[in-house]
Amino acid sequence: MALIHILFACALCGTAAAQPGEQIANAHQREGVDLNGDWPIVIDPYDNGSFDYLSRPQTRNGFWTSAGPQGPTDQQEWSFTDAETLAVPGDWNSQRDDLFFYEGTVWYRRAFDLAPEAERRYFLCFGAANKRAKVWVNGEEAGEHGVGFTPFHLEVTDLVVDGSNSVTVRVNNERRFEAVPGLNTDWWNYGGLTRDVRLVSVPSTFIRDADVSFDGDTITATIELDGPEAGGQAVTMSIDELGIEARGTTSDAGVARLSVSAPADLERWGPGSPTLYDVSFTSPGDAFADRVGFRTIETRGSEIVLNGEPVFLRGICIHEEALSREGRAWSEVDARELLALAQELGCNYVRLAHYPHNEHMLRMADELGLLVWAEIPVYWTLDYDNPATLVEAKTHLTEMIDRDMNRASVVIWSIGNETGDDPVRTAFRLELGEHVKTLDESRLLSAAMFARAEMHDGKPGKLIVEDPFGAMADVLAINTYIGWYWGEAEDLRDCSVERAWDKPLLISEFGAGVKQGLRGEPTDRWTEDFGVRLYTETLAWADRIEGLAGLSPWILKDFRSPRRQLTGVQDWYNRKGMVSETGERKLVFDVLRRYYEQKSDKQPE
Ligand code: GCU
Repeated sequence: MALIHILFACALCGTAAAQPGEQIANAHQREGVDLNGDWPIVIDPYDNGSFDYLSRPQTRNGFWTSAGPQGPTDQQEWSFTDAETLAVPGDWNSQRDDLFFYEGTVWYRRAFDLAPEAERRYFLCFGAANKRAKVWVNGEEAGEHGVGFTPFHLEVTDLVVDGSNSVTVRVNNERRFEAVPGLNTDWWNYGGLTRDVRLVSVPSTFIRDADVSFDGDTITATIELDGPEAGGQAVTMSIDELGIEARGTTSDAGVARLSVSAPADLERWGPGSPTLYDVSFTSPGDAFADRVGFRTIETRGSEIVLNGEPVFLRGICIHEEALSREGRAWSEVDARELLALAQELGCNYVRLAHYPHNEHMLRMADELGLLVWAEIPVYWTLDYDNPATLVEAKTHLTEMIDRDMNRASVVIWSIGNETGDDPVRTAFRLELGEHVKTLDESRLLSAAMFARAEMHDGKPGKLIVEDPFGAMADVLAINTYIGWYWGEAEDLRDCSVERAWDKPLLISEFGAGVKQGLRGEPTDRWTEDFGVRLYTETLAWADRIEGLAGLSPWILKDFRSPRRQLTGVQDWYNRKGMVSETGERKLVFDVLRRYYEQKSDKQPE
């Protein structure tokens, strides 16, 4: 096949080379050692591994210094030898009853063999750890990370040895007011090494990042090399299946932007036709391919427009909990199960609440053709006045966008949920919105907001969408629980919606608590009958909202929450799922499925 050699390329001048700690693109496909498995642990509720009895920082007795007593005269009072283990990836809460509510520190430590090669570099790549993690290799500090739902890749080239090595990780999931999320969430505070762990090996100068974008005519790749030979290097991006290639040379900073015209036979990615291409990147010493879909997303008045056509988002909200077991979802199997169920509902869209989900979810959404709302956990009340809180929120955005830039499924970046809209909180969110725009202009910006209810005769006569963040957002989105937290579902019959801007509007949440299988009157809380009544009224209301662009009911599956204590009904589950915690379908599943069926008949994919 004759490759069309397009030599459009411009080297970016002055762009900073990769910052320490930035992610390695496609880490999961790179050469390396899979470190998933059972890791020995030490539970450390009073942080003895870090501080001594007088709360002074540990030195020779820190839990990273050794595996514990090595002989009959050693004094250590902790050990990783013959210790209990936890499965990695996995939260600790769902693995042991005595850790169900645990908020504190757990130490993980495992060995791995390595034969390091000259001219290669080694990185420990964690999909995430919740929440604050600190890592040592062979007793030497390798780095730390304080954000609970995004990857961190630590270079350990100078720490690994030929033969047996040890990696020790301290993970602490204690909630803090100044953190993101803050003290109060309606989801379980799952702690641990919750996602994949891998030791990755790359050439001394390697392709750290390769972001691909598509504007409808041109495919652009920004390739970033990292290493001693990053500047002035020949790099290429090619798509064999389309017979295209772009070549260029990196700047002194190791960055090149290559562009190539998209051929007429390029198949756009979208629900119903999730076409992905192997996009290959090469540099003199490195190469990898990423599976990328090409689509455009924009707004046109109150419409969301995908590949030039208006699309109605038939969605559902999803928390990152496995469908077929307790605890955090983390695997490709988990992702397929959750998203396949969403597709059975008739969804073309999922709202991944309220934090960045594991990378398998995004890659599976690409494969299955589901549009994605991705979100950071700026949720309810934070320490909005605290500059450190803003920095942590921006770190979530930077790391989420860095990881998912090439995922066609992601069409909306959300900077938060139900934060309230006083001037301090609004300023905080506007800062985040600006930050998103500096990182990625190609996707839509939103947040799940409240609407103001205008009461008529004691009932909600109008919902007014006027949250000040709406001025910056590309897409407006409101959570509303009329009929559950206040009012009656029938009130919706006389409730109109008004928005302050001519922009697309999503109903980003509505729902009702239903105990699967419980029957009664439609006015009896927790019954299937109550759920059917609320969904029937709310969906009919949605159909009356002029220019509604989509909805994502709350939520796919009953999920763990520390705020849901009603014994015998909730039992630490939020019961607004379409299915129970064991996947048992509720009657509302079919109510929503039928609604989406008639919606998609009107607007095929
Ligand atoms: C809120 C919030 C969710 C919460 C839900 C509920 O809108 O966004 O995180 O779980 O309502 O109260 O069930």
